Amino acid sequence: MILFRKAAAASDFLNGRRMSGKSIGFVPTMGALHAGHLSLVEKAKAENNLVVCSIFVNPAQFNDPGDLERYPRPIERDIELLTLAGCDVLLLPSVEDIYPREGLLHLHRYDLGHLEHFLEGRSRPGHFQGVANVVDRLLSIVNPDNLYLGQKDFQQVKVLEWLVAHTGRSTHIVICPILREENGLAMSSRNIRLDASNLEKACIIFQSLQFAAANYQLYAPSELQAICIKHIESIPNASVDYLEFCDTGSFQSVNDWRDAEHIVAVTAVMLSGVRLLDNMLIK
Ligand code: PAJ
Repeated sequence: MILFRKAAAASDFLNGRRMSGKSIGFVPTMGALHAGHLSLVEKAKAENNLVVCSIFVNPAQFNDPGDLERYPRPIERDIELLTLAGCDVLLLPSVEDIYPREGLLHLHRYDLGHLEHFLEGRSRPGHFQGVANVVDRLLSIVNPDNLYLGQKDFQQVKVLEWLVAHTGRSTHIVICPILREENGLAMSSRNIRLDASNLEKACIIFQSLQFAAANYQLYAPSELQAICIKHIESIPNASVDYLEFCDTGSFQSVNDWRDAEHIVAVTAVMLSGVRLLDNMLIK
């Protein structure tokens, strides 16, 4: 695996590979890698000549400075995991490289429409602007044929679909399934902040989504929402930030199951101070 700390050097190298006809798959991450991230690398490997992964803990997408500070950064272990996974290129840029000339203070503003202030966007002001800024810059550096994203962050996928479409890129987005722990909890870099008891109890989020998928036709969306929230909040120290049923296309919430052809249940739960995201296609 070749490691680049400078964006320009990575760009030059990748341009050369592209000119010699190699297809490039890109997996952007913030590190603290787990099997979920590695499944994206694996898929990219199967579908491209060259796999590029980036690790960059993006300050622009953290609205809570404490969360940014606490974000795990086990870089040696990440490098080992990516090497074992057969990743070809690792991009490890500095903040100055991604946001030159005080760029962090002058972020580009994207017109993300309702995605910006809805659900995850409402709870984390500025978050999706930060995500759009960094991914736009990373895409300019890597210029991949295929961009690999996890369904785990469903709203992020919607934002990045918008970004790719509105910046005129030809990059194709590949959405990869959510990898879960044995008990159903969606894998996340934040899970290491849960103690053993919470790790066990957190499976209630997955179970509630499964219940929703299996039984949605028996209830109106608002009834099912109340049942799922009550179920999740029955565990101590859990509070549901949101649990909504959305049209997978427009990402608007539905009032009636007939409102959309495909519906996703999306949720964010605070469990003992740790924010856990999950979602499931229910229709
Ligand atoms: P990060 O949270 O590190 O996630 C990197 C990628 O891994 C994202 O596409 C995410 O959806 C995917 N992922 C995370 N957990 C997963 C799981 N359990 N199963 C499958 N895929 C999973 O998302 C980000 O970083 C950042 O916002 C980023 C896009 C890199 C921009 O900074």
